[in-house]
Amino acid sequence: MAEQKHGVSRSPPVSSFIFICLLSVFINLDVAVGDGSSPSMVQYTPADNYLINCGSPDSTFLDDGRTFKSDPQSASFLSTEENILASVDSISNIISSSSSFPSSSFPLYTSARIFSGVSMYRFLIFRPGRHLLRLYFYPLAHPSYNLTRAFFTVKTDSIVLLHDFSVKDNTRLVFKEYLLNVTSDKISLTFAPMRNSFAFVNAIELVSAPDALFSDSASAVSSPVGVFSGLSNYAFEVSYRVNVGGPIIPPKGDILWRTWQPDDRLMTFPQGAKNVSVPPDIINYPEGGATPLIAPNLVYSTASEMADSGTANPNFNLTWTMSVDPSFSYLIRLHFCDIVSVSLNDLYFNVYVNGMMGVSSLDLSTLTSGLAVPYYKDFVLNASAISNGSVMVQVGPSSGIPSSLPNAILNGLEVIKMSNSAGSLDGLFSVSGTHQNTLSGSRMMKIAEAFGLVMGIATILLLVMAIIRWHRRPQGWEKQGSFSSWLLPFNSSHCSFMSSKSKSSYSSVFSSGLFSRFFSFNELREATKNFDENAVVGVGGFGKVYLGELEDGTKLAIKRGNASSSQGINEFQTEIQFLSKLRHRHLVSLIGYCDEQSEMILAYEYMANGPLRDHLYGSTLPPLSWRQRLDICIGAARGLHYLHTGSAQGIIHRDVKTTNILLDENLLAKVSDFGLSKAAPSLDQTHVSTAVKGSFGYLDPEYFRRQQLTEKSDVYSFGVVLFEVLCARPALDPKMPREKVNLAEWAMQQHRKGLINEIIDPSIVGSIGSESLMKYVEAAEKCLAEYGVDRPSMGDVLWNLEYALQLQEASSQLNFHEDTVMEQPNKPKTKGDPNVVVSDDSGVVNGSPLFLKVGDFQGR
Ligand SMILES: *[C@@H]1O[C@H](CO)[C@@H](O)[C@H](O)[C@H]1NC(C)=O
Repeated sequence: MAEQKHGVSRSPPVSSFIFICLLSVFINLDVAVGDGSSPSMVQYTPADNYLINCGSPDSTFLDDGRTFKSDPQSASFLSTEENILASVDSISNIISSSSSFPSSSFPLYTSARIFSGVSMYRFLIFRPGRHLLRLYFYPLAHPSYNLTRAFFTVKTDSIVLLHDFSVKDNTRLVFKEYLLNVTSDKISLTFAPMRNSFAFVNAIELVSAPDALFSDSASAVSSPVGVFSGLSNYAFEVSYRVNVGGPIIPPKGDILWRTWQPDDRLMTFPQGAKNVSVPPDIINYPEGGATPLIAPNLVYSTASEMADSGTANPNFNLTWTMSVDPSFSYLIRLHFCDIVSVSLNDLYFNVYVNGMMGVSSLDLSTLTSGLAVPYYKDFVLNASAISNGSVMVQVGPSSGIPSSLPNAILNGLEVIKMSNSAGSLDGLFSVSGTHQNTLSGSRMMKIAEAFGLVMGIATILLLVMAIIRWHRRPQGWEKQGSFSSWLLPFNSSHCSFMSSKSKSSYSSVFSSGLFSRFFSFNELREATKNFDENAVVGVGGFGKVYLGELEDGTKLAIKRGNASSSQGINEFQTEIQFLSKLRHRHLVSLIGYCDEQSEMILAYEYMANGPLRDHLYGSTLPPLSWRQRLDICIGAARGLHYLHTGSAQGIIHRDVKTTNILLDENLLAKVSDFGLSKAAPSLDQTHVSTAVKGSFGYLDPEYFRRQQLTEKSDVYSFGVVLFEVLCARPALDPKMPREKVNLAEWAMQQHRKGLINEIIDPSIVGSIGSESLMKYVEAAEKCLAEYGVDRPSMGDVLWNLEYALQLQEASSQLNFHEDTVMEQPNKPKTKGDPNVVVSDDSGVVNGSPLFLKVGDFQGR
């Protein structure tokens, strides 16, 4: 009876469906899904959409329609500038062996960025909430870095994503996908090499995920059985995403650009299963519940059912087994869609997760009131219920309802790792580097029971070893976790050299392979026309500064020490060694020196546009735009940040002011006059006393009280610089009425009264976006806090200035866009309609339409 029913009424439609479907899947992939025109497709526009092909010289256009920008274009998100591009490599052999990887993503693996020190990408988040983060890794061949030997940690501000991670196998592409709940308006992504190693990444995606993707609760399958709530407190890593019974679905076939793998290798007894499929467009999404965002119709239109369905032997389950890390809990999402029944209420089956009943007699017809209507269900599987290192999903006929056909189906399957109590998705270290011993309480008991005392002791030994290892952790580990610090690979001079080399203009000087070269006295005498007074461009504590020109045309700023100085030649040489190591795009470089004939001469790169102050006031130079000023402040902040954090001991500049920020021919800002005071006491004195005289108005008030300079003194001075840049007046102007003499005090006073606009440089006041101004003044104000501890670090100041720049660009983009829209009224509406975003953006700090444009600007 059952046999006949199976033979007559079920088989023919199913087999023809398979045929039609094979065709339509491909058609669908290429046409309907790709352009999103199918009626069942919902439109989804992510508020945040960062796509970066790291290390790629150009933008990368994938055949799935997306454009990944190269790092340089996204450089404002990359906080370190020390990086190296790997050579493009052929990965064709891997392509042919990676059937489970969508070929559209291969171009993302052909370049990489290598980090030899802790490096950080920072992203502004325009819409807090769940975000998809995708990371691509492949160890490309590189002449000086063996990428299979890279060991590193990847983390956000609060979640460790990968710990002591490496890709040793260069025959495999590695793809990681995370779902992070971002609650603030920014997120950082840090790559931290393990000791003596380095890090790399091939591509990064950070994309807003729709709120509806995950609710806060799921069914708990292990104890306590019931409802598990609080999912939004967890970070997720997708371990498996499977299109059961169907082919791979590449990113192009999914609105959220997800990849769905085929299930072939996961089934325990594939002979017992049979693939079913229907044309995707008969899938009928319900009013509430599953949507194309939950899973595309390609997932619901294919399934596995029991090969023996309808026969007398219903006595087995369809079983999928996925190996997982048993120390984590998992969220398991199962997708169902009844594409096998010919009438309603034909199909009832049980669903088990790791042997435990998930749903007893699942009745899809009743739940969805129709056939071919998608349904999904979430389960949480506690780590304690994962005994053999795998997640097992089973569907099997329900014995309770004898009238039904014995059959069971599954259409899709997602296994998602949940972060542990250390806030990690990989290991037991938290972002701050502390090791969380979760092997306590009940879990320890369980282990002791299961493996006996011997194992227990072994565990303790392992822990002890881990702790010892932890105590030997690389220096500066804990610093790496703090939000404000991103260290540059200061000590690895090799790396600095590589990157300096790529920075064109002084390559002739560096070509010797040394940082600072030796100049003969005659060479420098010729360069300065015998130290001609007309060549003097400045006078500092150290002596006179001359503009010199070498025979090859290289211009130098040459500082000649006072011959009467008591400083010994040895100290001078120590000084040179020390300064030679300081190499950064935003520090004026020491190019060489001369110590012949008891001369002490230092040669620096020449900064064609001179000190920043000359561009602000007291000269006839044209005023700088707001954008230029922001760029200059950001550059100077980067230089100072490098001084403070780039070396083990940290260097305090001690004399931050607008005359010590120099501009090169492209108005690139570089901090000058640093370090000289650090290691040389005799120079120190001259320098500091000059500083006190010359830099009144910049001095940290706390310094007067405590007579102790810290890097927070530099932060204070930089706050004064920020107001000087904004208001274009000296830090101290004795000619002004009393309350206005000191710029720092005056500006803070005006700001408190809400009158800051009145003192802004009139030549730019109209062009500053209000959000940008707010952020900038806020940053300056924080720098000027009475006590050092209340002042931000240079890293935080830098971040706020970058933010101010982004806001400025966003507002000018918007203005520009509005203008264009007026001229071309029939521009596509989808992106330009600000209302869409305003209503969506309620949680954003600045919930204004301009964020829409920022999104566009960043490569949507
Ligand atoms: C299906 O699997 C569950 C859980 O592992 C088990 O209890 C049940 O007996 C199995 N059913 C059949 C028919 O083998």
